[in-house]
Amino acid sequence: MNAQSPEWHFVKKRTADPADGAVYVNGDRTRYRRTGGEALAAEAAYQRQLAALGYPVPHILEGGTTDDGHVFVVEESLGEHSLHDMALESLDGTRALSDTVVDLAAEVGSRLLRAQAAHVVPADLLMLREWVREAGWTDNVLAENPDLDTPRVRAALGRAVAQLAGVPMVPGHLDYGLPNVLPVGVIDWQHHGLVPLGYDTALALEIVPFKGGTKGYLASPEQRRRYLEALDETARATTGQRLSQHLAAFLLVKALFFLALMKPIDPTRTDKHLKWHYRRHLFTEVLEQYERTGAVDTARFPTLDDFAARHGAPGRP
Ligand SMILES: Nc1ncnc2c1ncn2[C@@H]1O[C@H](COP(=O)(O)OP(=O)(O)O)[C@@H](O)[C@H]1O
Ligand SMILES: [Mg+2]
Repeated sequence: MNAQSPEWHFVKKRTADPADGAVYVNGDRTRYRRTGGEALAAEAAYQRQLAALGYPVPHILEGGTTDDGHVFVVEESLGEHSLHDMALESLDGTRALSDTVVDLAAEVGSRLLRAQAAHVVPADLLMLREWVREAGWTDNVLAENPDLDTPRVRAALGRAVAQLAGVPMVPGHLDYGLPNVLPVGVIDWQHHGLVPLGYDTALALEIVPFKGGTKGYLASPEQRRRYLEALDETARATTGQRLSQHLAAFLLVKALFFLALMKPIDPTRTDKHLKWHYRRHLFTEVLEQYERTGAVDTARFPTLDDFAARHGAPGRP
């Protein structure tokens, strides 16, 4: 098939891709094609390795360079609906997440966790620190928010790293969440890297409130507990360790990830300023809870609307 084949339909521009990549789907929706730069070539190589290791990921069918010098990769479709799509489609007028979606999330999460647990790399502190840097986008976050570059923040990150010493590292996704999870596997391995076992899967429902809680679905405490219990069971059967005990350390890094690339360049975009300040607030909230109790409850986050109401005009810090 020609790389410029007219049968590819544009799906979306790729998020956070410096090469301005995009995603396309073919006419019968059985294949997806991505374009990009060197990062896409690395992503595809990683995904091929994961497929060979038995990870539930799309098989890569084709790859190469287009006539105008872009990298392209074609992979099989894992289906029409992500768990995020299914969660939205099954909303019944309330914000309640469907139990079916929670069960599916637990099932796919357990499958990924099992594949990861079968390929552990013994961890050392340097690898964990590298994970904090990569997964938390800390260079970007601290450059955009220099006031967070403090001994206090570094101490909390150091505490998280110390707490995770002894947790095995595994090939990870870094952007794991319901939009990238389909009933048969996990797509979008753009931000891959070694992660402490559990980092990807444990947070799938915990990260939902970071979106602001003003639209879509929310998982109940009972659903979050049930999801984590299923993963803990899988983790116990493989490595003997529960992963829910590290939820707060994982969330500290994830709260940084959600703050990355948020600072708007355009001062007139008050909506974007509000979202940036909201994510700054959520990071601070996670930090405070972690410092105070060693645990983090994401159900205590304010919604974006609550936050906006409390902080007056949007965009004013
Ligand atoms: N192999 C695939 N199977 C099913 N859907 C896919 C596949 N690859 C991409 N998609 C669809 O295309 C969308 C965008 O692809 P993705 O790589 O997740 O882009 P982004 O990096 O912008 O999140 C996905 O959310 C999904 O709906
Ligand atoms: Mg995606």
